[in-house]
Amino acid sequence: MIAVTGGKGGIGKSVVASMLALVAARSGKRAGLLDCDLTSPTDHVILGLDDQFPTEEFGLEPPKVSGVSFMSVQYFLRDHAAPLRGQEVTDALVEILAVTNWGELDVLVVDMPPGLGDATLDAVQLLPRAEFLVVANGSAVVLETVRRMLRLLTELRSPLAGVIENMARGEPGAVAELARASGVAFLGSLPTDETLEAALGDPDRLVATPLGRALAGIGVV
Ligand SMILES: Nc1ncnc2c1ncn2[C@@H]1O[C@H](COP(=O)(O)OP(=O)(O)OP(=O)(O)O)[C@@H](O)[C@H]1O
Ligand SMILES: [Mg+2]
Repeated sequence: MIAVTGGKGGIGKSVVASMLALVAARSGKRAGLLDCDLTSPTDHVILGLDDQFPTEEFGLEPPKVSGVSFMSVQYFLRDHAAPLRGQEVTDALVEILAVTNWGELDVLVVDMPPGLGDATLDAVQLLPRAEFLVVANGSAVVLETVRRMLRLLTELRSPLAGVIENMARGEPGAVAELARASGVAFLGSLPTDETLEAALGDPDRLVATPLGRALAGIGVV
């Protein structure tokens, strides 16, 4: 179980999480993806969800989207907003985890929402087997939050899969150095990919983008 996190918003957690699940499925693994962003889910846009819906059999069985067993509150939200607060977010997550029947999986990728608050703490508590993959980049404002995230996860004794740099602009020096100083593996850098936007929603194109190939090369899953 790999929980893709990073603390900071908009650094590519959802893109990395969704593409990791696709890459794993393409390499023959039984892969699942859980969009843990209960108020602003986006993985369905990245994967390109049609009108699939979970089937009910011993719980909710997630449909397969391009080979990935995919669960998201989007099935139930559709175009509605999810005005959840505090405990309601936790309750919704507990319910999703309780009712989802994943079957046998080799890897479950969990896409975490931004922030170091409820959602992250819930994930640490409710997904004790999850290893956290921390997405970062070299911007000082991103590093400030990623540093705190790494400290939080270390203090909570959560397993850390490593740090990955996304939307790299140059040498990975600052991110690699933060990982080293935090005692966490630096897994590599992903390019800023101008072709990504046009490939969103099309899994075959996504895995063939420079970003998809770089992610497959890093070999997280
Ligand atoms: N390597 C990349 N190259 C180009 N664009 C990227 C890359 N990674 C992410 N993006 C784009 O950056 C934006 C933010 O990505 P994404 O939604 O995955 O971030 P996030 O960390 O999940 O955001 P949030 O904190 O809101 O959940 C999206 O428009 C996405 O397509
Ligand atoms: Mg996201």
